[in-house]
Amino acid sequence: PPSPSKIPRWPSNLCKGCRALIKKVRDRYSKPWKRQEDNYKSLSSQLRSQCHGFDGAIITQENSPLGSKILYDSEKNMTLQVIPEIFSTFAKENLFKNKTWDKCAVVGNSGILSHSSCGEMIDSAQFVIRCNLPSLAKLHEKDVGIKTDIVTANPSIIRTKFGDLTRHHRQFVESLHIYGKSLLLLPAFSFGFNTGVSLRTVYATEDFGSPIRPVFFNPEYFRRLTLFWRSRGQRKAFLSTGFKMVNLALENCANVHLYGFWPFSIHPFELNALNNHYFDKIKANWRHHAMPHEFDLWLRLHNQGVLRLHLGHCP
Ligand code: CTP
Repeated sequence: PPSPSKIPRWPSNLCKGCRALIKKVRDRYSKPWKRQEDNYKSLSSQLRSQCHGFDGAIITQENSPLGSKILYDSEKNMTLQVIPEIFSTFAKENLFKNKTWDKCAVVGNSGILSHSSCGEMIDSAQFVIRCNLPSLAKLHEKDVGIKTDIVTANPSIIRTKFGDLTRHHRQFVESLHIYGKSLLLLPAFSFGFNTGVSLRTVYATEDFGSPIRPVFFNPEYFRRLTLFWRSRGQRKAFLSTGFKMVNLALENCANVHLYGFWPFSIHPFELNALNNHYFDKIKANWRHHAMPHEFDLWLRLHNQGVLRLHLGHCP
């Protein structure tokens, strides 16, 4: 954060509650960050033993054998029988087995990343996780970097931008080149309408020989994660993609750094207006999410030295 003498004046049209929130953020964020090993270990091991993201966040041929039934997480009582055609699209085995990383960057899509100069720091992480096929265009590279090990894809983006993949696929597959050999995580079994488009994503990337590796989130993991946080007071709405990815990182990474997590329309230090995304001007639509509550948790975990939340400029 900038030194107090450089903090600009409060704008007169500040949104309701924003001043109190920003003061709280500045107060908590102004203290030097200190890692607290005990706090990190406690949360990480609870997540591992209760949510099993480490060995169960992704659908594999091991955990979802032929003939088994997959229970969707966002459609009441909806199941899908694993038939050979579907089974063949599953990852063969657990991709995170025996893998831990020293430093992970989880990148949310907030407009706070614009002009942040965080790209180099993000790319210096051993493992970089991004959400919802974000833009990594040259003009954003200084702020968000380019390295990607996991990228999630919300099927609604594929639907809007690429017509649900019911026609030509080349343009879609070409748009994925920027993510290289990363894992492409799809919530294929959250809503019924996600399944077809997720399977078509696998076929399209295979047909065009794309190096990206599409895999499916395991709805069991989402259920366990929801129960875990519900029992700790996080009761509001569905967990956001960013929330899920931070939790996955907390199980597998010794040092978790968060960038682009700021679901508010004003910069906490510079007080200028912010877009919801660093790459477009589309307004937030969080009917199902409780982003401010999730942010509050990140701030608490930052304070407890469990993870490091980056707001504002990177050095
Ligand atoms: N995010 C944030 N602040 C913002 C925008 C996004 O903290 N202003 C985080 C959220 O955790 C979000 C993630 O970055 O899940 C990815 O952002 P986005 O693509 O905008 O997610 P949504 O489409 O809003 O929602 P979903 O979580 O359902 O994918």
